[in-house]
Amino acid sequence: MLEVYELLIVIVSLIGLWIYQWRNPKTNGKLPPGSMGFPIIGETLEFMKPHDVLQFPTFVKERVLRYGPVFRTSLFGGKAIISMDVELNVEIAKASHVPGITKSIARLFGKNNLFIQSKESHKHVRNLTFQLLGPQGLKLRMVQDVDHLARTYMEEGARNGFLDVKETSSKILIECLAKKVMGEMEPEAAKELTLCWRYFPRDWFQFSWNIPGTGVYQMVKARKRMMKLIKETVLKKRASGEEFGEFFKIIFGEMEGKAESMSVENAIEYIYTFFLIANETTPGILAAIVKLISEHPKVMQELQREHDGIVRGKTDKEASLTWEDYKSMTFTMMVINESLRITSTAPTVLRITEHEFKVGDYTIPAGWIFMGYPSVHFNPEKYDDPLAFNPWRWKREELGSILSKTYIPFGAGSRLCLGAEFAKLQMAIFIHHLFRYRWSMKTETTVLRRFMLMFPSGSDVQFSQDTKVENSS
Ligand code: HEM
Ligand SMILES: *[C@@H]1O[C@H](CO)[C@@H](O)[C@H](O)[C@H]1NC(C)=O
Ligand SMILES: *[C@@H]1O[C@H](CO)[C@@H](O)[C@H](O)[C@H]1NC(C)=O
Ligand SMILES: *[C@@H]1O[C@H](CO)[C@@H](O)[C@H](O)[C@H]1NC(C)=O
Repeated sequence: MLEVYELLIVIVSLIGLWIYQWRNPKTNGKLPPGSMGFPIIGETLEFMKPHDVLQFPTFVKERVLRYGPVFRTSLFGGKAIISMDVELNVEIAKASHVPGITKSIARLFGKNNLFIQSKESHKHVRNLTFQLLGPQGLKLRMVQDVDHLARTYMEEGARNGFLDVKETSSKILIECLAKKVMGEMEPEAAKELTLCWRYFPRDWFQFSWNIPGTGVYQMVKARKRMMKLIKETVLKKRASGEEFGEFFKIIFGEMEGKAESMSVENAIEYIYTFFLIANETTPGILAAIVKLISEHPKVMQELQREHDGIVRGKTDKEASLTWEDYKSMTFTMMVINESLRITSTAPTVLRITEHEFKVGDYTIPAGWIFMGYPSVHFNPEKYDDPLAFNPWRWKREELGSILSKTYIPFGAGSRLCLGAEFAKLQMAIFIHHLFRYRWSMKTETTVLRRFMLMFPSGSDVQFSQDTKVENSS
């Protein structure tokens, strides 16, 4: 009896010690203030409470008041520093290289993923991606495809009387990337690839492990399926000597010049990373932008003017958009810039600290997750009346010149977003085609953030009867 009792005491003390250690992580200096919450789950549940997209999470706001702009916590099973300090965010963005994702999420991207593996491989894929999706790549390879897809889906929506912005944008994005990746893929294979995405649970970015029934588990399964599908197509094409699409030509291009060529596995993982990131960001943000536009009649008017002008300027009204047309969408770009400023209420610098950082008296240890929020977007010294949605503020030239520190919706430093130009192109062309119709957004549409964007009532726009703008005006 006594022994069991003693054992129990030992167990309870060990648990106590573990909890103590959880709450008081070891460091060389003084940790930033904050609480580590419960063992393992930390403060994840509070952190993941949905909030209005135009506000930082209450979780963060409350802690900033209590602890100051830099505090510690524990999220998704890891130790984390949250920062609303612009200088620190930019410093860490420049000095830390490792992406700030937890182990469970890293698994989704694959352990050999070139974005994660080493500095050299990261540099290499950044270079490749820049060739694919940098301005030159977009100009040469992308405008027409995006234009064609957006036009087609918008026409279909107008016939039905409505369409869901997020869903439609996601279809356009995936089809257009799939086409680039797979070249002239057989239609069935392309369709199957698109279908694969359906296996992905919506709200995948969650705190969970690879346990059956959880989001991560389903993701890992869907990932395998997709990888297999892409691999089969690649190998088939290789074997038959058929031409690759432009992407694979660039990716495997060096092969002929031998040296460090990419393996098929690596290439597939690389492409997969793209699909995932692109699909998780752009469609949601576009839907949030359309919502903001729909609530601001003056912005709507100005956009209508800009896009009518582009259509009117064409002799053939159905001719596809050119790079020059895209570049002439100045007001649209102002709207996109402003929307990205005001909806960036999630961290845009996500890293694992590679070494210690000093912030005042505090020490941020190496190996922690660092989440930098773009609080500067709401700083009244940088942006007049920062809570107002005012695209015209982008007319002021100073905004353009001081951007690197005061405007960071796409992050900063060595991991600055590689898809920024591509995302803007997608969104601008979608908006163009939307304004070829008379549309409105359902008033019940709400945009929430739960780290990622959420649309509990969908993101439908409705088209009115006399919908085609050219015909009715
Ligand atoms: C409006 C849409 C988008 C937003 C707001 C956005 C935002 C971001 C942010 C904030 C980062 C950097 C995180 C950091 O600094 O730690 C990032 C990185 C990245 N983004 Fe985007 N992104 C968008 C669209 C896209 C698209 C469409 C693609 C791909 C086609 C893409 C590909 C990437 C990649 C590959 C990285 C990692 C870069 C690296 O590790 O070097 N993004 N994005
Ligand atoms: C990418 O790599 C090529 C050669 O491999 C080089 O010529 C080019 O300058 C690089 N581009 C960028 C943007 O680093
Ligand atoms: C891509 O987005 C669509 C629409 O939101 C969603 O149905 C699908 O599950 C997404 N795929 C991934 C991998 O997130
Ligand atoms: C939008 O922001 C980008 C920086 O991300 C800047 O280079 C560009 O000039 C801005 N465009 C407009 C029209 O304000």
